[in-house]
Amino acid sequence: MDPSQIQLNKEGRLKHFLTTEGLSKEILNEIIDTANSFISTQERSVKTVPLLRGKTVVNLFFENSTRTRSTFELAAKRLSANILNLDIARSATSKGETLMDTLWNLESMYSDMFVVRHADSGAAHFIAQHITPNVAVINAGDGRHAHPTQAMLDMLTIYREKSGFENLSVAIVGDILHSRVARSQIYALKTLGCQDVRVIGPNTLVPKDIESLGVRAFNNMKQGLKGVDVVIMLRLQKERMQTALLPSESEYYRLYGLNTEKLAYANPGAIVMHPGPINRGVEIESAVADGPQSVILKQVSNGIPMRMAVMAMAMGGQSQEQSLQEQNQEGAK
Ligand code: CP
Repeated sequence: MDPSQIQLNKEGRLKHFLTTEGLSKEILNEIIDTANSFISTQERSVKTVPLLRGKTVVNLFFENSTRTRSTFELAAKRLSANILNLDIARSATSKGETLMDTLWNLESMYSDMFVVRHADSGAAHFIAQHITPNVAVINAGDGRHAHPTQAMLDMLTIYREKSGFENLSVAIVGDILHSRVARSQIYALKTLGCQDVRVIGPNTLVPKDIESLGVRAFNNMKQGLKGVDVVIMLRLQKERMQTALLPSESEYYRLYGLNTEKLAYANPGAIVMHPGPINRGVEIESAVADGPQSVILKQVSNGIPMRMAVMAMAMGGQSQEQSLQEQNQEGAK
């Protein structure tokens, strides 16, 4: 199924947010504009707005998280929603309850939105297809498939730092093979009109067919970083590596770790990004991670307005679909 079909309601509005793949430039720009408008609310002493008052959001993190889970919780609270953080380790899944039984039970508690992180690629799509249509599903990262809100908070950060996408050169560096973030960023950057997207990494960590997504692949940092405006570093996702794909971490750092010397290959005003968690001395030097070109902590801050935007838009799309269904049912009587 075309991934955008399940994400949009009949009016073409967002009702689930599962992947950046297949969404139009208009929708991605609307997400960025909405998030941008929420930034000023986050700089006030009173940060809450009443947009989701009375709604119930359930955070379902079947995989560990610091940034995504916390910022979804803060975003829901700042939209005045009620949020339930299900403690998976203490839930009945440990007694053998299936994922769908857990979700159908939570759905029966009059939930309005599930925010789902899961180790299996496709989990969020599967859930969106099998729960009641009145519940919006937001993908908070599924396996190596997609992490759309991370990609969009990264787009918001680039937009604010560089004022657009068309004329930018962006390099994504490291473990592209296992990265749900890289895939979601590539779809978003290409849709938003970025002409020059590059991936850099050892052959073992760059998918063979990656150039079919409209990016250029490099194995050499000097060549790949030459003249770029944005450098996005990725963590080595060792939890997803089934075999040894690297000679050693120290060799990887020597060749692909971002230090001041390698950063000098990029444009002088280039920004350095990383979705986190960062591994200092593995993919990035502290002098760069904490240096003047780093926007890593701005990305974290931008996670709140971005997640507020996506939640508000998805809930709007759900309500619109629900009222359309109700109108249709009335009309049929
Ligand atoms: N970037 C990201 O997804 O971080 P967490 O795993 O801490 O949520």
